[in-house]
Amino acid sequence: MSKYENRWQTVLVEVQGGIGWVTLNRPEKRNAMSPTLNREMLEVLDQVEQDGDVGVVVITGAGESWTAGMDLKEYFRETDSGPEILQEKVRREASEWQWRRLRMFAKPTIAMVNGWCFGGGFSPLVACDLAICADEATFGLSEINWGIPPGNLVSKAMADTVGHRQSLYYIMTGNTFDGRKAAEMGLVNESVPLEKLRETTVELANNLLEKNPVVMRAAKNGFKRCRELTWEQNEDYLYAKLDQSRLLDTEGGREEGMKQFLDEKSIKPGLQTYKR
Ligand code: COA
Repeated sequence: MSKYENRWQTVLVEVQGGIGWVTLNRPEKRNAMSPTLNREMLEVLDQVEQDGDVGVVVITGAGESWTAGMDLKEYFRETDSGPEILQEKVRREASEWQWRRLRMFAKPTIAMVNGWCFGGGFSPLVACDLAICADEATFGLSEINWGIPPGNLVSKAMADTVGHRQSLYYIMTGNTFDGRKAAEMGLVNESVPLEKLRETTVELANNLLEKNPVVMRAAKNGFKRCRELTWEQNEDYLYAKLDQSRLLDTEGGREEGMKQFLDEKSIKPGLQTYKR
């Protein structure tokens, strides 16, 4: 029995070979993100981040969807009819995992998009470090189709990954696009046939698992922050990250990497990672 079995109503967590598989699990509602799911995802992310058996987190969806976005009934309609202050809480809990926690997550994250991906789903999609999707997946910024502009970090997520014209085209028309188009636009790293999706994701995760986790964290989070800083600030910040990772890295990766290349001549860092 998995240590996470039956722990959450709307999310499944399984750990296998260093990969923490986090599955949004409301297939009958196309994995729409309800306040319950948002609250549970916060707990899930906290737990897998601290779990020594998890080196990489993959977020996927049960059934035919990744996620149909925010739950129109539970997140919008029921909140609209509740006390006004309730909206603050449900919005905060949604943002907290969908981008704040995920974006600077301490371990590498991969969105494995297996099917429908709409609206609010774009925030966690882009907050994950990397994304692989099925050619058959369908993406859409459907907000305009049901009467709202994109909220939360949806437009920001598009602006960060996809160009100006393409973003506005999909935001303004609500037209859908498939996995191949998502890859062509840079919204995901790669699109593969559905039957190859898991295998491709595992291959990518295994590559990341070989790397030094402390250096990995400094590298990915350093990149994300650097977009918001000036060149001057970046030079200082990224060198500070480099020094920080050296200080925190108890396995001495930098010395080991140099030794294996310069002294032992057993690796070529241009072509492979050092042996840990
Ligand atoms: N919020 C709440 N419920 C949703 C939902 C959402 N975002 N997406 C799907 N569901 C529910 C449906 O209401 C339906 O519930 P019911 O069985 O109680 O009637 C169930 O999930 C299945 O949905 P259905 O529309 O029958 O599935 P489908 O496979 O024919 O279509 C979608 C799938 C994703 C194309 C369609 O459900 C859809 O357009 N969803 C809304 C997407 C959206 O606009 N999201 C943006 C939110 S910001």
